[in-house]
Amino acid sequence: WVLMVTAQTPTNIAVIKYWGKRDETLILPINDSISVTLDPEHLCTTTTVAVSPSFESDRMWLNGKEISLTGSRYQNCLREIRSRASDVHDEGKGAHIEKKDWEKLQLHIASYNNFPTAAGLASSAAGFACLVFALAKLMNVKEDRGKLSTIARQGSGSACRSLFGGFVKWIMGKDENGSDSLAVQLVDEKHWDELVIIIAVVSSRQKETSSTSGMRESVETSLLLKHRAKEIVPRRITQMEEAIKNCDFSSFANLTCADSNQFHAVCLDTSPPIFYMNNTSHRIISCVEKWNHSEETPQVAYTFDAGPNAVLIARNRKTASLLLQRMLFYFPPAPETDLNNFILGDNSI
Ligand code: DP6
Repeated sequence: WVLMVTAQTPTNIAVIKYWGKRDETLILPINDSISVTLDPEHLCTTTTVAVSPSFESDRMWLNGKEISLTGSRYQNCLREIRSRASDVHDEGKGAHIEKKDWEKLQLHIASYNNFPTAAGLASSAAGFACLVFALAKLMNVKEDRGKLSTIARQGSGSACRSLFGGFVKWIMGKDENGSDSLAVQLVDEKHWDELVIIIAVVSSRQKETSSTSGMRESVETSLLLKHRAKEIVPRRITQMEEAIKNCDFSSFANLTCADSNQFHAVCLDTSPPIFYMNNTSHRIISCVEKWNHSEETPQVAYTFDAGPNAVLIARNRKTASLLLQRMLFYFPPAPETDLNNFILGDNSI
């Protein structure tokens, strides 16, 4: 027999960024962060996990290519999930698995991203969240999503936030063992459904400095990061929670843009400096800033992760269609570009 579970998990985009760890193995951050989870149709990972007594070893395929599971991030997630497994009985298939059997049974995992891996579009976030969620279902793990988020966190920090829809906060926690460093949902996907997220894929090339090594270098060398984590982010988290609760787009946009810019300033303050944005990214920022300043209140927020692609959040559908017109006018896609790759997100959740 073979038992299988398939899950689909969207990625999330941080509006108050996570950058810097206080524990590299457990993946514990130096500040809280807040993100919005995208609509599951776009930018998601689909993962199928299977178990069978005939499988000889744990194996995984990512986008059709076998990858190694020996890395500590995968091993930590697999170990944590296995230790919480329960009995599973499937009469139809004649499968009777007891709790203790899960230690010996081997798994096959196949995962697909519908967007460029490692292009700064947070693929590891959707990937580890989906893996942990699918395994938890397969192994009948009874823990709630908050607890599962502490396991996904050990795969990739930002993954813990993809266990929930809507706006999500990753609480940094205080415990040394990481038990209180988990994700909580601030509001669900229906709370602020006017927002429209547009992702402008500036480049789908693999980024040069991974988030993991980039943030390690920032922790080691950037004084600005220390100041940010201690003095700036705590205040911004409170203000952002308030803006989200009140659907206050003006504050939301100001905070989102400021936090993205500060994150990239930290990258520049790192030695040697890290450049994630390129010339096109800078032009997109100028374009949005000019537009926002020509109106009474901001119309669009921008945010950039560890890559040059722009995540643009429009206050409503009308603004989003104006934004698209502007983007296509100022940044006409190359003739061979598939527009579906240019415009990925529809509404926010
Ligand atoms: C810029 O979660 O990819 O996207 O924990 O080392 O796997 P690791 O890093 P990762 O970092 C994401 C950084 C970011 C900001 C964010 O998503 O909050």
